[in-house]
Amino acid sequence: MKAVILQFSEKEGLSLNDISLDDPKPEVEEVILQVSACGFSYHDALIINGTLNRGVSLPRVLGHEISGVIVDVGSKLSKKLIGSKVVVIPKDLGHRQNGGFAEFTSVPFSSLVFLPPDYDSIEKACLLFSPISVAAKAVKTCQLVKNNWLIISGASGGLGIHAAQIAAAKGVKVIGITSSEKKLKFLQKMPWFFAVFMETEPYEEILFAMTDDHGIDAAIETTSMSIERLLNTLTPKGRLVLSGQISSSKSPIVPAEVIFRELQIIGSLGASLPEINECLNAIKKGAIEPIVDRISPLSAHSLETAFTRMTNREVVGRILISPLAPSSV
Ligand SMILES: NC(=O)c1ccc[n+]([C@@H]2O[C@H](COP(=O)([O-])OP(=O)(O)OC[C@H]3O[C@@H](n4cnc5c(N)ncnc54)[C@H](OP(=O)(O)O)[C@@H]3O)[C@@H](O)[C@H]2O)c1
Repeated sequence: MKAVILQFSEKEGLSLNDISLDDPKPEVEEVILQVSACGFSYHDALIINGTLNRGVSLPRVLGHEISGVIVDVGSKLSKKLIGSKVVVIPKDLGHRQNGGFAEFTSVPFSSLVFLPPDYDSIEKACLLFSPISVAAKAVKTCQLVKNNWLIISGASGGLGIHAAQIAAAKGVKVIGITSSEKKLKFLQKMPWFFAVFMETEPYEEILFAMTDDHGIDAAIETTSMSIERLLNTLTPKGRLVLSGQISSSKSPIVPAEVIFRELQIIGSLGASLPEINECLNAIKKGAIEPIVDRISPLSAHSLETAFTRMTNREVVGRILISPLAPSSV
C-alpha cells in the first residue's frame, strides 16, 4: 500500500517520504480500515518539526484523525463488520502504531465509532472526534446559557472554529481572537462570530465596552498564548477553559486577579462516547458543519504543504489528506 512515513537520518534529520508498505494484517481484535481521510493536526506538525517526540517511535506513519471503511477483521470479530463506515478514537495511532496517512491502517475494534450506512460525507467525518467533539466538550465545560458571551483564541483553528459554531448554535455570543491578519476579514464574515479581533488589538477594553462593563462569561484558550489576556476579559466567577497549547512558553497568571474575581481555570481533554454521538447527530442534522480547508491527495508533498500552510497560519479548520483524492500530478 501507499503511505507517507516520517523518518530520521543523520544526513537529512526528520523528513517525510512516500513509501510502499505491506498491507497491514489485523490482530485478533483489530480491524483494517481503507482510509477515507485523515486530518492534518497541529499535533502532527509538532512531531514533524521535532518538538514532540515523547511516545513517538520512528520511522512512523503519522495521522490520528481517521475515517474509513472496514475491509478486514481479526479472528475474534464478525465478518459482518466488513463494509462498515467508521471514525477512530485514537490511542497510540500515529505514535507507536502506524496511523492514517496511508491507504490502509489497523485499528483496535474498541477504538471505533460507527457511522450510519447512509452517511455520505465520510471524508469530513474524520473530524468527528477531534476537533469537533473535543470542541463540543470544551464548550460544555464553559457552562454557558443563551446570550452569554464566550471568547475563543485560535479562532480559525480546528478547535476554535468548531467551538464557535457549537456555542453560537446555543445562542451564545462568540468573540474570536485570531493571530492572522490574512484570515481576519474572512472570519468576521462567518455567521458564528459576533466579532473577531486580531490578537494584537487592545480587545479587553473593547469587550468591556461591548458588554456594558459585564465582561465575558467564559473563554476557551486553544493556543495557551493568551491566558492572561483572556482572564482579564472575564466577568467575576467567569470560566477559562484550557484546551490546547501551541507554544511551550510559560504563561504568567496573576493569582490576585483569579482570587478577587473568583475565576475558574479548567482543563478540558478529549470527549466521551455520548459526547461524540451527540456531535454525530448534530452533524447529520446539519447543526454542525465540519470545516475543511482543503482535501489533498496522499503524498509526502501534500503533508509538507499542509505543514507549511499551518506554520504560516493560512489554514481555516482542517486540511484533510485522502488516498481517494485525485492526485494533481
Ligand atoms: N484538549 C484536547 O483534548 C485536545 C484535542 C485536540 C487538540 N488539542 C490541542 O489544541 C491545540 C489546538 O488544536 P487545533 O486542532 O485547534 O489546532 P489548529 O487547527 O492547528 O489551530 C491552531 C490555531 O492556533 C492559532 N495559532 C496561533 N499561533 C500559532 C502558530 N504559531 N502556529 C500555528 N497556529 C497558531 C491559529 O489560529 P489563528 O490564525 O486564528 O490565530 C491556528 O489556526 C493544539 O495544541 C492541539 O494539540 C487538544
